[in-house]
Amino acid sequence: MNPGTDRAEAAVPRAELGERIMARVDALAACSESPRALTRRYLTPEHRCANARVSEWMRAAGMRVHIDAVGNVVGRYEASSPGAPALVAGSHLDTVRDAGRYDGMLGVVLPVACIGELHRRGERLPFAVEVVGFGDEEGVRFESTLLGSRAVAGTLDPALLGATDTEGMTLAQALREFGLDPARIGEAARRPQDVLGYLEVHIEQGPVLEAEGLPVGIVTTIAGATRLAVTLTGRAGHAGTVPMSMRRDALAASAAAVVAVERRCRAEEGLVGTVGRLEVHPGAVNVIPGEVRFTVDVRSADDARRAAAAADIIAAIEDIARERGVACAVRELHVHPSCTCSPWLASQLEAAVAAEGLTVRRLPSGAGHDAMALAALTDVAMLFVRCKEGVSHHPAESITTEDAAVAARVFLSLLRGFRPFGAAAASP
Ligand code: GLV
Ligand code: MN
Ligand code: MN
Repeated sequence: MNPGTDRAEAAVPRAELGERIMARVDALAACSESPRALTRRYLTPEHRCANARVSEWMRAAGMRVHIDAVGNVVGRYEASSPGAPALVAGSHLDTVRDAGRYDGMLGVVLPVACIGELHRRGERLPFAVEVVGFGDEEGVRFESTLLGSRAVAGTLDPALLGATDTEGMTLAQALREFGLDPARIGEAARRPQDVLGYLEVHIEQGPVLEAEGLPVGIVTTIAGATRLAVTLTGRAGHAGTVPMSMRRDALAASAAAVVAVERRCRAEEGLVGTVGRLEVHPGAVNVIPGEVRFTVDVRSADDARRAAAAADIIAAIEDIARERGVACAVRELHVHPSCTCSPWLASQLEAAVAAEGLTVRRLPSGAGHDAMALAALTDVAMLFVRCKEGVSHHPAESITTEDAAVAARVFLSLLRGFRPFGAAAASP
């Protein structure tokens, strides 16, 4: 075989690569709290199941594997000179409730499949490649998001060990049950000098790529987020006897608050706001609701705009509560600034997309990602993959095998051509 043919062959992995990625995403979807709906929360038996499957695929791809101090699964494909710094790829293995199967999982399974391809060909790179399956990004269990990636970035506040889940179990207890030592969570942190950059492959979770007929896109910025927990406390009472004028109905006040969130976020471009969880107590058909707890999630790529909206929303809820004689308590669950992807790393992704003969499309991310947390440790870039009708956080989430294969080819092309920051450009 002449060298030209050999290079072309090396650049195009077997067609089965896309199929392998899809089959592995399906296999992970079986690690679920319920057989009817995919739900996988941090530090649960289902998380252990996902870590075990990913570990097995990592080992088969020639990687050295360990579970780190917060339960992330980490695989390392050694460099041609052992111990060299690593380019890190990854995403999360936890899900929202009744989730789709690609959000997070694609960004773990796809790089491992690509490294399996390097391993199959006996290719080593001058740098190590590590893949991390982060244990918590969605924040479903402990009301605090990005726990896995913040631990790796060294920004996880140990005070969070006291955070509790809905059963009252603390994060510290859950770590112990998972076989980890909460006193050692600091050991998950990586040193900046050991990391060359962070790449995350993720479904777009929006409709832009599909509308433009493109399989992949390159992320420019990731929107920042503010999450609040609100409790409105009125007075429970008999639904048949308390006159309307004498009620302090916590749910009626919450309904007005939900509309206030929507109104404030609709009033300005580039702002979104959601009340995604609402619990009514005591929750009976013939009892006036005495207490309601709900969450607020506000996002924008513009941090000042988001902060102003969050402040206005809190003020509006307090006004509503006052007018209705209802007590109001607001707690900040999470505040994360927006994140800009690194131009030097994103431009290498762009070159890899162009090398596949594809249009280079840059787009912002409205969703949060582990890359936001990793940005405190290293430079980050993200590759988005087209998803059907932009649907995500929903069981109908879907991508095609062909798009998975295209994204894998882009990722492999990036790995083969990767130059660390400051390294001279390769001659054409
Ligand atoms: C994660 O999916 C988020 O953006 O909330
Ligand atoms: Mn998600
Ligand atoms: Mn995600």
